[in-house]
Amino acid sequence: MEDDRIVSPGALSHDADPGLRPQWLRDYIGQDRIKDRLAIFIEASQQRREALDHVLLYGPPGLGKTTLAHIIANELGVHIRFTSGPAIERAGDLASVLTNLEAGDVLFIDEIHRLARTVEEVLYPAMEDFHLDIMLGKGPSARSVRLDLPRFTLIGATTRAGMLTAPLRDRFGVIVHLDFYDTKDLTDIVKRSAQLLGVHLDAAAALEIARRSRGTPRIANRLLRRLRDYVEVKGDGEITYAMAEEGLKMLEVDPHGLDAVDHRLLDALYYRYQGGPAGLETLAAAIGEESGTIEDVYEPYLLQQGYIQRTPRGRTLTALACERMGWPVPQELSQRSLFEP
Ligand SMILES: Nc1ncnc2c1ncn2[C@@H]1O[C@H](COP(=O)(O)OP(=O)(O)OP(=O)(O)O)[C@@H](O)[C@H]1O
Ligand SMILES: [Mg+2]
Repeated sequence: MEDDRIVSPGALSHDADPGLRPQWLRDYIGQDRIKDRLAIFIEASQQRREALDHVLLYGPPGLGKTTLAHIIANELGVHIRFTSGPAIERAGDLASVLTNLEAGDVLFIDEIHRLARTVEEVLYPAMEDFHLDIMLGKGPSARSVRLDLPRFTLIGATTRAGMLTAPLRDRFGVIVHLDFYDTKDLTDIVKRSAQLLGVHLDAAAALEIARRSRGTPRIANRLLRRLRDYVEVKGDGEITYAMAEEGLKMLEVDPHGLDAVDHRLLDALYYRYQGGPAGLETLAAAIGEESGTIEDVYEPYLLQQGYIQRTPRGRTLTALACERMGWPVPQELSQRSLFEP
C-alpha cells in the first residue's frame, strides 16, 4: 500500500532513473558537513594507500545512502559490490562475497540491520582483522581454517541504526547520519534533475516541489517526473508555478507534503484518541498500516516537523499539528504539553 503513495520515500519500480543519481561528491547536493568529512577521510586513505575505514550510513529512506556509497567507491576509484542483509542467508554466502573482493574494494550491504546473527558473526573478524574462520567438515573431525582477506571497505546502510547490535556498530570507523534536506537544497536538487531530464521548470515551481517533498530527494525527483507527465498532457511541457500547483493537487499532495495516509494518521490521533497518547500498534491497527512502516516511513518526517511526539506512553499530537490541520487544540493536549516535554 505504502508503495502506491506518491510521497512514499521508499523506492518505487518506476523510480529507476539512474541518470539522476549523482556520481561524485561535488554533484551531491546538501549534507555539507557529511561531504566535508567524507572528502577528508577519502583523501587520507588515498594518501596512505590504504582501504577507507568501514562506513555506516543511516537515516530515513530516500535521503541518499545508496547514492553516497556509490560516490565513495567512485571517488576512491575502486569497485563496489552490492548486496543486502536479507540476501545473505548463510555464512557461506558472505564468505564467497568476501573472498571475491580485491584490495581496496567497497562491499555495500544495504539493510544491514537485517543480517542473520550467524552471518554477522562471520563479519566481525572480517571487518576487524580481515580474515575469515571457516569450519571444514562436521562432527569431531571438523576443523577451522583461517583465510586471509584483502583489505576492503564495508559500507553498511540502514534506516534503523537502533536495530544494529553493539558489536557490529562498534566496528564502523565512520558513522554518518543523514537527516532530512532543507527546502533550499531540495530546490537545487529538483533544478538539477529538471536540467538532466530536459524539462523546463520555473524557479517558483521548483520551490513548491521542494516544499512538498518531505525533506526527501527521492520524493522531490518523483514529484518532478509526475509533473513532467502532467504538463506534457495538460500543458505545453513547461512546469510553471500554476501547473505545478494544479498537478500537485491532482497527485493529492497537500501544501505541507502530507498525503492521504499522513492525514489518516493525524486524524486517528485527533478524533479517536483525543490527541493521544496512542501506542504504535494501536495506531497501526486504526489506520490499517504495518507498525514497522509507520516507524520507518511515516513517523520520522511527522516527528521532525513537530506534528507528533513520541512519549513513553505512545504517540501524541502537537498543538502545531492541530493548527496546521485547522482543528481546535483539545484542552487536554494544551495542558498536557505544559507538563510533558
Ligand atoms: N544529495 C543528493 N543530491 C542529489 N540527488 C540526490 C541526493 N541524495 C539522493 N538523491 C536522489 O534521490 C534518490 C534516492 O537516493 P538513494 O537511493 O541513495 O536513497 P537511500 O537513502 O539509499 O534510500 P533507501 O533507504 O530507500 O535505500 C537517488 O536516486 C538520487 O537521484
Ligand atoms: Mg538505498
